[in-house]
This record gives sequence, structure tokens and C-alpha cells, in this order.
Amino acid sequence: MFAVYAAEPSPDDPIAALRVGERPEPEAADGWVTVRVRAASLNMHDLWTLRGVGIKPDRFPMILGCDGAGVLEDGTEVVLHSVIGDPKWTGEETLDPRRTLLTEKYPGTFADLVAVPARNVLPKPAGLSFAEAACMGTAWLTAYRMLFVKSGLRPGQTMLVQGASGGVSTALIALGRAAGMRVWVTGRTEDKRALATELGAHDTFESGARLPERVDAVFETVGKATWPHSMRAVRPGGAIIVSGATSGPDPSADLQRLFFLQLRVIGSTMGTRDELADLLTFCQAAGIRPQIGQQLPMTDAPTGFTAMLAGETAGKIVFTH
Ligand SMILES: NC(=O)c1ccc[n+]([C@@H]2O[C@H](COP(=O)([O-])OP(=O)(O)OC[C@H]3O[C@@H](n4cnc5c(N)ncnc54)[C@H](OP(=O)(O)O)[C@@H]3O)[C@@H](O)[C@H]2O)c1
Repeated sequence: MFAVYAAEPSPDDPIAALRVGERPEPEAADGWVTVRVRAASLNMHDLWTLRGVGIKPDRFPMILGCDGAGVLEDGTEVVLHSVIGDPKWTGEETLDPRRTLLTEKYPGTFADLVAVPARNVLPKPAGLSFAEAACMGTAWLTAYRMLFVKSGLRPGQTMLVQGASGGVSTALIALGRAAGMRVWVTGRTEDKRALATELGAHDTFESGARLPERVDAVFETVGKATWPHSMRAVRPGGAIIVSGATSGPDPSADLQRLFFLQLRVIGSTMGTRDELADLLTFCQAAGIRPQIGQQLPMTDAPTGFTAMLAGETAGKIVFTH
């Protein structure tokens, strides 16, 4: 079948390991279903995979794509939840130490077909297109969990989103606005800040700029480049919710500030199946839909990868069949 995949780990030049070609069809084990993919979105995770981060070397070649929407053999339209847990695990699936995300162990969604456990498909809301629904399973789910499960923010409080135009950032802006937060955003260019305003940000700032006042919570996916600003931006007793470190981890955590201001640093990863179901309902109830900056045929996937690597995003990058 057609697939977009990583041939081998390529730490310094991820695009060099990207292939568009043919791979064997996935085999659905007992209790699994096969989904004909209609759309899937690009996540930074796919660039990490090409670099060999978060995947064992013997798992290459690996079909990329950590989320998607498509159609089951019986015609049911579905959204994928891509956290694949151990069937014996009984707790919350993001805490299962043996869990994997699609593309870490099992082949991903940038292909004609993908196989997942039956519990990892949810009905696609009729109000979302396949391309919009494809954005929900990774970036939007991560944003939903950071904001509604981890942050403890109440409507009316102020949140700062580091980064304006990325998948997780644009989701945080739209979700925060819809939930009644005061949404502040940093963005690296005027265009990116304008996009944040369009999506509902109440105010935008250049990266690292001094803010009018400290915020109740900061939402971090950037890491080293914005971490010192995040530590200065949060009010005493406030929280920094972290789900990524695109620019690298920061070894100087500013511990003195952390304990003196009694800050809370909260890690967050993906979300549960139930949270994905709630996210889909929330989007319908609040009338919000994902910002798609670029929609490309899956055969043109390298164009999307190159744009993300260059930081040229304006919301989600989506590949369709
Ligand atoms: N833990 C999880 O479950 C999980 C899930 C999803 C994503 N993530 C992580 O979250 C991060 C973002 O993923 P994504 O898919 O949203 O990526 P993306 O769409 O490429 O977005 C990247 C974002 O990072 C910002 N950024 C990058 N470098 C920056 C720098 N040097 N200074 C300031 N801002 C910078 C960009 O800000 P501008 O808009 O200003 O350019 C943009 O908003 C990745 O590290 C990813 O691995 C983790």
C-alpha cells in the first residue's frame, strides 16, 4: 500500500530519512480494526521519529503519522485515539508504562490503511470534516489535557501560551478562549501573532517580552528558548504546564525561583480515550474547529515536513487521501 515512512534514524537531517512509497498492509490482530485513512495530521513527533528520538532503532522502517480520521470496513466514520496501551493495564492509559503512541511500535496513519485496537476508534462527529477530525487525536488532545485536566485554571484566569502558530499552541488558544480564560500568546513573528488574535487571543507579545502582569498559568511546548520567560511570567503559586521541548530541554531549571514562589511545574502527555471523547463534544458544543494552515495530498507530505522543520506553521498541517 501507499505510505509515508521513516527509512532510518537521521538525527541531524530528518528529511533525509523521509520516504514516500510502498509498505506492506498492516495486519489487524484479534480485537483490532483496520481503518481506511482519509486524513492525518503532521505533528512534531513525526520529525522526532525521523531523528530517531523515542523509537528503538530496530523498529525502522516505520510508517509515520500519530493521528487520523477514516472509515472502518463497515463504513463507520471514525477518529483515532493513538495511545496504544497494554491490554492488561487497568489504570489511566497515559500512565501505562508499556503504552506506545502510533509510530513508536505500531505503524502510523500516513498510509492507505492503519490497524488499531477496536477501543482506539471513536465516532467522527458529523460536524467535523475528515481533515478537521484528524487534528484531534494528538495536538488537540494534548492541549485539552494540559488545559482542562492538568492546569486547574478557572474561567476568568489568565493563561500564557508560548508559541502562536503550532498545532498544540493554536489548539490551546481556541480551547482557552472558548472556556472563558483570558488568553495571552507569544509569537515569533507579526503574522503568527495576528493568527493568534484571529483565533481568539486577547493579547499577543513578542517572544520573551515583558508582560503587563504575571499570569495564572503558562503553557509550554517550546522548552529551552522560552523556559526562562515562562518562569518569570507566572505568578507566585501559579503553574507551568509542560508537554514538549521543541527547542531542547533546559538544564537550568531556576530552582530558587521555583521553590521561593511556590511554582508548580506539571508534566502532561497526550490524553485518554475519554478525554478525546469529551474534546470532540466540547468542540461541537462550543462551535470551535481546528485551524488548518496547510492541507496537502498525502503524496506531497515532504512539503509539509519541510515547512514544519522550518517553523513555517499557521495551525495544523494536514495530509488527505
Ligand atoms: N507530550 C505530548 O503528548 C505531546 C503531544 C503533542 C506535541 N508535543 C510536543 O509539543 C511540541 C510542539 O508540537 P507541535 O506538533 O505543536 O509543533 P508545531 O506545530 O511545529 O509548533 C511548534 C511551536 O513551537 C513554537 N516554537 C518553536 N521553536 C521556538 C523558539 N525557538 N522560540 C519560540 N517558539 C518556538 C512555535 O512558535 P511560533 O508560532 O511563534 O513559531 C510553534 O508555536 C513538540 O516538541 C512536540 O513533541 C508533545
